[in-house]
Amino acid sequence: MKKIQSVRGMPDVLPGVSGRWLWLERQAQDILAAWGYRQIRLPVLEHTGLFARSVGESTDIVAKEMYSFADRSGDSVTLRPEGTAGCVRACEEHGLLFNQTQRLWYAGPMFRYERPQKGRYRQFEQIGVECFGFEGPDIDAELIVMTAQLWRALGVADAVTLELNSLGSPEARAVYREALVAWLTPYRDDLDTDSQRRLLQNPLRIFDSKVPRTREIMAEAPLFADHLDDASKAHFEGLQALLEAAAVPFVVNPRIVRGLDYYSRTVFEWTTDRLGAQGTVCAGGRYDGLVAQLGGRPTPAVGFAMGLERVLLLAEAIGALPAELEREVDVYLLNLDDDQLPLTLALARELRAAVPGLRLQMHCGGGKPRARLKRADGSGAELALILGEEEVAAGTVAVKALRAGGEQRTLDRTALIETLRALVAGRADGRDCK
Ligand code: HAM
Repeated sequence: MKKIQSVRGMPDVLPGVSGRWLWLERQAQDILAAWGYRQIRLPVLEHTGLFARSVGESTDIVAKEMYSFADRSGDSVTLRPEGTAGCVRACEEHGLLFNQTQRLWYAGPMFRYERPQKGRYRQFEQIGVECFGFEGPDIDAELIVMTAQLWRALGVADAVTLELNSLGSPEARAVYREALVAWLTPYRDDLDTDSQRRLLQNPLRIFDSKVPRTREIMAEAPLFADHLDDASKAHFEGLQALLEAAAVPFVVNPRIVRGLDYYSRTVFEWTTDRLGAQGTVCAGGRYDGLVAQLGGRPTPAVGFAMGLERVLLLAEAIGALPAELEREVDVYLLNLDDDQLPLTLALARELRAAVPGLRLQMHCGGGKPRARLKRADGSGAELALILGEEEVAAGTVAVKALRAGGEQRTLDRTALIETLRALVAGRADGRDCK
């Protein structure tokens, strides 16, 4: 019988690799907590209309990439393609935006029916951050400075570039949109078919085209920067001044338009040239109009999301993954025959309590002593703790180094606990925020 495989573009993360994910998530969570951000946990399934009304009907995400289906009662629901819309929905539904500000984060899988390739999947994970109720550029700067701290903690800071733009007010953008369409119309037949469609629906997105002739044309096109309204200009300059003061380097890229309709004013992308075409590891911006658009009171908002697969691919590509991630088990505890099983269980419990952070795997499944030692070796642990008849009688444990040299010592309980504490302390787990 043919075996069933995973759905295309929805990769498994296997043990051996999942430790990287835990490392990344822990780094991010520690920093978010240190900056006073609180977690919000949101459903994966939302009403389809939520995304049509927020991300935008004419965007690629809504027009071509959503996993939408009728549930058993016939309602159209969608596997979330992103987290901002659901976050706004939840905040409104539970009154979290009434007379208060919010700094929130969420994490989890998102779904887009894109063409899978390295760094681009149909199910992928994001950590997203959303702030509500702050109008000035201070919060935009805070988000960016916090992200820069995460890049340093992960060791990828030198491999990413911050690109910034301002999309201005909706009114200024409407005026610009007309100017852009008027300028592009004579070139209509030279544009690729996607861009011809966008000319009617979403002309700013033509800046995203990868088709060479379209790019040539767009290189000459009028830029929004020249149409920016005064208030947005002051906001954007305010942000740049704050980033300069915080020594976060950036480049202004007037061609950043973003693929979702809800943005206004600040937009930004952290990009890398180490991952080929899928070089945006984190992106976001302001969406001051979205809360009202979804039926709430006008509330300024700004946020971003990072693609965890891409961040991990980048860390791997530049050798930033800590070597300690290779080891998933510190010690393997085995008894040489099962008469010692109750004692072994008690020892495991005692050691886990005495050595915080110790990752102790206990032998299960019986077998001859040789087979047990082989399992210890295969576990990836640094040390095997062996409990034979002699050790039980003497109240000691035999400790065998599994990686370096195979040396074996017999230790009493105090010496054992000291050895294990040193082992755990020596495994720098990368928690420090640099
Ligand atoms: P986005 O630019 O669509 O923005 O996605 C954010 C990040 O998710 C991207 O920069 C990328 O790292 C990752 N990503 C997107 N699509 C894929 C994919 N198919 N495979 C792997 N990674 C992917 C948003 O989603 C907005 N909600 C961000 C935001 C939050 N803006 C304001 N608040």
